[in-house]
Amino acid sequence: MPVKKVERSAPGKIILCGEHSVVYGHPAIAVPISDMRSYARVVPGPAGQGLRICALDLNQECALMETTDTHPLGRLARLVLRELDLPEPDAVLTVASELPIASGMGSGASISVAAARALSAALGAELPPEAISRITYEVEKIHHGTPSGIDNTVIAWEQPVYFVKDTSPRGPLDDRPEMFEIHAPLKLLIANSGIASSTKEAVDEVRRRWTATPAYYDIVFNCIGAIARAARAAVEQGALHALGTLINENHELLVKMGVSLPQLDQLIAAARAAGALGAKLTGSGQGGNIIALVEDETKDAVQKAVIKAGAVSVWQTTVGLQDA
Ligand code: PMV
Repeated sequence: MPVKKVERSAPGKIILCGEHSVVYGHPAIAVPISDMRSYARVVPGPAGQGLRICALDLNQECALMETTDTHPLGRLARLVLRELDLPEPDAVLTVASELPIASGMGSGASISVAAARALSAALGAELPPEAISRITYEVEKIHHGTPSGIDNTVIAWEQPVYFVKDTSPRGPLDDRPEMFEIHAPLKLLIANSGIASSTKEAVDEVRRRWTATPAYYDIVFNCIGAIARAARAAVEQGALHALGTLINENHELLVKMGVSLPQLDQLIAAARAAGALGAKLTGSGQGGNIIALVEDETKDAVQKAVIKAGAVSVWQTTVGLQDA
């Protein structure tokens, strides 16, 4: 089977509002971070070698046939080949990412999307976003157990999405997701606490709390769902001050859910005190990143403040620039 030399990439993501409650069927909004990406390259290999997989950041290399279904890239490659109904090619798939691992920026889903794009394109049949999203969702289950599907969706479609977990019997993720417009570009500062976090552990912890006190946590989840709906409207209208307030309120509810940490709260307090319109943790919490909604006049002061408060790295990004 001919293999083309191909390179593809995929963005990172952040959840603006609605993490965790999205697992329980409430809406969340997420945006791709197009200037922080993962990359995948496929090159032809010698006849009979099969597919070799190389993860540069992890310093790992192996043959597809050595992997089991708990190996993310092994599982991904098998799913792509099954989707295309093609045999294993003689090729090398190499992946690398600019995204911090285990920090709520979707590094795992981003690598999967880049790899699925590259592998399918190298085999002459680049898969559409719905197939890439569905395959990435299957791989996400290895990391997360019960993912809502938001990470694979926003990254595979590379658009702002208003996401509600699909529980239809037809199976999730077969349709185009609901997208929304960004009226005024969102200037965001993403600050890494340097504390690695496990999405699975955070999701399990929230589930334990919900199981023990369902009435209380259902109210918390409902409130966050309402915040996500209002935040979507604020983004669509360019109402940045309202969005900042909603982001702050979302964070207070995440604190009640038990997924923040003193270190994250410190970064968030510092960002707000330095003039951010709003700040919250993003992703599963218990470490990872915070986001701050900033303006041109405040962004450098906010950056300095979060570094002073302990951030190990900070990125400035603008989402929705094409609509400016
Ligand atoms: O993978 P993370 O850390 O960005 O978190 C994903 C968001 C959660 O709502 C916590 C889990 C999920 O599956 O939606």
